[in-house]
Amino acid sequence: MGYSIKLAFLCLIFFSSSASGSRVEVVHSQFSSEAEALLKWKATLPSYSLPALSSWKLTPPSPNTTTTNTTTPSAAAAAISCKWFGITCNRAGSMVEISLPHLELQGTLDNFPFSSFPNLLRLDLSDNGITGTIPVHIGSLSKLAHLDLSYNNLSNILPPLSNLSRLRFFFLHHNQINGTIPLEIGNMKNLVKLALCWNEFTGMIPPVLTNLTNLSLLYLNHNELNGPIPSKIGDMENLVVLDLAYNKLCGLVPQSLANSSKLEILYLHENQLSGPLPQDLGGQPSIVSIQLSSNLLSGSLPQQICRGSLQYLSVRNNSLMGTIPDFRNCTSLRRLRLDNNLLVGNITGSFGVHPHLYYIDVSHNRLYGELSPKWGECKNLSGIKISGNNISGNIPPEFGHLTELGLLDLSFNKLVGEIPKALGGLSSLLSLYLNDNQISGHVPVEIGNLINLEDLDLSANRLIGSIPKQLGQCSKLLSLNLSWNSLDGSIPSQIGDLVFLQDQLDLSHNSISGLIPPELAKLRMLEILNLSHNMITGSIPLSLEEMVSLVSLDFSYNELEGVVPNNRIFKNASPQAFRNNKGLCGELQGLLPCPRPQTSNRSGKKGPKFFISIIASLIGIVFLAYAIIGVLILLREKVKKENIEATRGNHGNIFSIWSYNGNIAYEDMIEATENFDAKYCIGTGTYGSVYKAVLPTGHVVALKKFHPLEGEIIVDEESFGNEIRILIDIRHRNIVKLYGFCSHPQCMFLVYEYMEKGSLASILSNQAEAMGLDWLKRVNVIKSVANALSYLHHDCVPPIIHRDISSKNILLDVELEARVSDFGIARLLKPDSSNWISLKGTHGYIAPELAYTMALTEKCDVYSFGVVALETIMGRHPGELISSLSSLAGQKMLLRDVLDPCLTFPSYQKVAKDMLAVVRVALACLRNHPQSRPTMHQVSKELLVPRSSFVEHFHTITLGDLDDVEVL
Ligand SMILES: *[C@@H]1O[C@H](CO)[C@@H](O)[C@H](O)[C@H]1NC(C)=O
Ligand SMILES: *[C@@H]1O[C@H](CO)[C@@H](O)[C@H](O)[C@H]1NC(C)=O
Ligand SMILES: *[C@@H]1O[C@H](CO)[C@@H](O)[C@H](O)[C@H]1NC(C)=O
Ligand SMILES: *[C@@H]1O[C@H](CO)[C@@H](O)[C@H](O)[C@H]1NC(C)=O
Repeated sequence: MGYSIKLAFLCLIFFSSSASGSRVEVVHSQFSSEAEALLKWKATLPSYSLPALSSWKLTPPSPNTTTTNTTTPSAAAAAISCKWFGITCNRAGSMVEISLPHLELQGTLDNFPFSSFPNLLRLDLSDNGITGTIPVHIGSLSKLAHLDLSYNNLSNILPPLSNLSRLRFFFLHHNQINGTIPLEIGNMKNLVKLALCWNEFTGMIPPVLTNLTNLSLLYLNHNELNGPIPSKIGDMENLVVLDLAYNKLCGLVPQSLANSSKLEILYLHENQLSGPLPQDLGGQPSIVSIQLSSNLLSGSLPQQICRGSLQYLSVRNNSLMGTIPDFRNCTSLRRLRLDNNLLVGNITGSFGVHPHLYYIDVSHNRLYGELSPKWGECKNLSGIKISGNNISGNIPPEFGHLTELGLLDLSFNKLVGEIPKALGGLSSLLSLYLNDNQISGHVPVEIGNLINLEDLDLSANRLIGSIPKQLGQCSKLLSLNLSWNSLDGSIPSQIGDLVFLQDQLDLSHNSISGLIPPELAKLRMLEILNLSHNMITGSIPLSLEEMVSLVSLDFSYNELEGVVPNNRIFKNASPQAFRNNKGLCGELQGLLPCPRPQTSNRSGKKGPKFFISIIASLIGIVFLAYAIIGVLILLREKVKKENIEATRGNHGNIFSIWSYNGNIAYEDMIEATENFDAKYCIGTGTYGSVYKAVLPTGHVVALKKFHPLEGEIIVDEESFGNEIRILIDIRHRNIVKLYGFCSHPQCMFLVYEYMEKGSLASILSNQAEAMGLDWLKRVNVIKSVANALSYLHHDCVPPIIHRDISSKNILLDVELEARVSDFGIARLLKPDSSNWISLKGTHGYIAPELAYTMALTEKCDVYSFGVVALETIMGRHPGELISSLSSLAGQKMLLRDVLDPCLTFPSYQKVAKDMLAVVRVALACLRNHPQSRPTMHQVSKELLVPRSSFVEHFHTITLGDLDDVEVL
């Protein structure tokens, strides 16, 4: 029976712990009171919190146990409770650690028995759903060194906590604590890391904080703190990271920060800091990143700012004036944002060769001078924005060497000369903005080589000649603006090949002549079409009625004549859109009525088309519109997908465009998710939260953000980077693609392929969605997961153990094809980090052997796979069914009784056969002994070609029938 197995299991632990040491002898009754206190607290929790704590019980001594046991009942209780989930004891049997992160615990701390744990060193209740206030008597944990209450819903004020003077790590971030930061925090002299970020703290930063000389990480960002930054903050000699961003701090940036000798990260952005900066800021060799953007800073930017090893500097959106610093010797620079200030200076002499620089934005300043050919040697540049300055001279052809470049924005300057043909070498380019300059000459045909280009704006220049037909090769263009030039010739019909063109096609204010090519009708996604102020002749092709997405069109000031089509798109257009032409007519308001249909037939070959259109519209225009819209929606989905596919195919992964050495710019993602705003959050998992991010390029990705500060548990940057690179290289159709990662002192996230349908868990829990996932699809989901795991275990070198297979980590795409996510992440984290327990996996999917050993093997994944496979067939987590499998009742259970009641009984032989194979395999995977479980290779082979069949008597098959067969 399942029950007896559990008992035996407990006894096993009991024996081993009493056998393993005479230390347990000194059991004090106090230790069992620790257990009882916890049980009392457990009893106050809402019942839905409890599954996680199911191991928390004091099993009454059974005859089995007492015979071999000589210790007292309280010792027994202590020994048992020391094995409870999340509990660690010292050698004397007293609890030193209560670690219950990520368990969806609900309830409050009001009844937590803080005073019952005189030896507690570590309390971790992070990432649960705990509400209410932090009780004052938490202060009775006088030995506590590590307190983590982050990621809960704690509210109200923070009590003084005077007695917690031994605290070294205090994490309270991501709650809703308000009121001021208590002055007593100044007594926590041992604090090394303090994170109060993402709360609602008000008032000033208490100057006593600067007494905490051991503090190395201070996160107070994302609160409502006001007043000045304590002037001595830079005197904290161990300070490495200071993040005060997103508050309402005012006053000066303290001078002391310029002298802080270990400071690496300084984040003061999004505040109301004003005045000049300390003139030697950034001079210290330790500094890596300075973020001061969106303040009210004035004065000049310190010339010293890049004397050290600065890699990231952003001072955008301030009022800094004076001369731009000389960055020529700043070779460590990776990302530079000085945009939207009042900086002056000659750009030519300010920059040299920057081998690591991948993004530079100095737009909207008062820079002048010419662009240096040296830019062409900054091989890692993936984004350049210099728009809105007074840059003169030519565009150096050397820019064409920047094969990583995704964005080139030189608009609103005084550039002259021709567009260099060499720009055709920018094979990664997505956006090219050269508008509002004085560029002359022809549009080079080499622009057609930019096959990844999505945005092209050459408007408001002095370009001449005709529009090159090669533009039609830029098949990913979303937006094309060539207006306000002196272009002539006719519109090449190849423009119609730009079928993804969506935002605009603006050819206005040129000298374009000839006819409107009917091929423009292929631009079914186009929203804005402007052909005005040209010399275009002929009539408006009736086929343009097919441009169903048009919301704005303009044909004015041309030489057009003939009938204006009369469908919805043209009807909604303003009469202004047709004025000043040679003779446009039609039924639309403001147009002259056409004399006779025949006159509009002058462009002979359009005759039949015209006729067909009229007939079609007479027969069923409504039907047509619906059909087109339907097709369009499908097309769009496809287009989106193909965009991503194609970019990826071309370039390894889409982020290489925005990345340097695999790093994705933190701020790019911040912008896409508005700072990880909850509205972009699409789920939370064991390691963190997942966000949907639509990048500026239109790509959709999923960001898996680790809890801040857990970023620190990365073993070390370099090996982490290597590991990630291995994972990025993994390609399997049933594994979610990992595009890249961002490692940042405060947060770390992984960037994944976005999966439209979400997780298997969410689909199974929603009846409507679950019904869409029929038996065949479910079997396919299970096969896909098996294939993915088999690949990770047997085809990857070194093999990758997933460690957290659960229905939450199986994601589905639009076609309900399954892919495994989160593979291999666990091993990137340090074993002794706070969430090591959760690293073993998700509650309910963890192999039984992990309760008593740390030995994670492939067989742990096999077990979890077994749970997921059953869950998929049952429509719910198998729960107790697993433990009852070995019981007689379990063996006698009918298969048909456990199948998901959402679906009708499988009626096809093939499906029934597949399902039997799935259940048989699942049961084998759930065997207690790791060695007796099959390998994933065997599993996927077995599922591919299911053996024998009981299919004739499907209704009467019991789980026992499927269990004891010689499978695998
Ligand atoms: C702090 O939060 C509590 C509960 O959320 C609320 O009742 C109280 O008014 C808040 N206090 C301040 C100063 O905002
Ligand atoms: C700071 O840390 C050092 C070593 O880690 C320790 O010796 C010292 O006592 C600490 N200082 C305070 C004020 O706690
Ligand atoms: C702590 O800071 C306060 C004010 O900031 C100061 O008066 C006091 O002397 C400091 N205490 C120690 C022990 O440094
Ligand atoms: C195209 O560029 C011109 C000139 O730069 C600008 O005025 C116009 O608004 C742009 N067209 C669209 C549709 O944005």
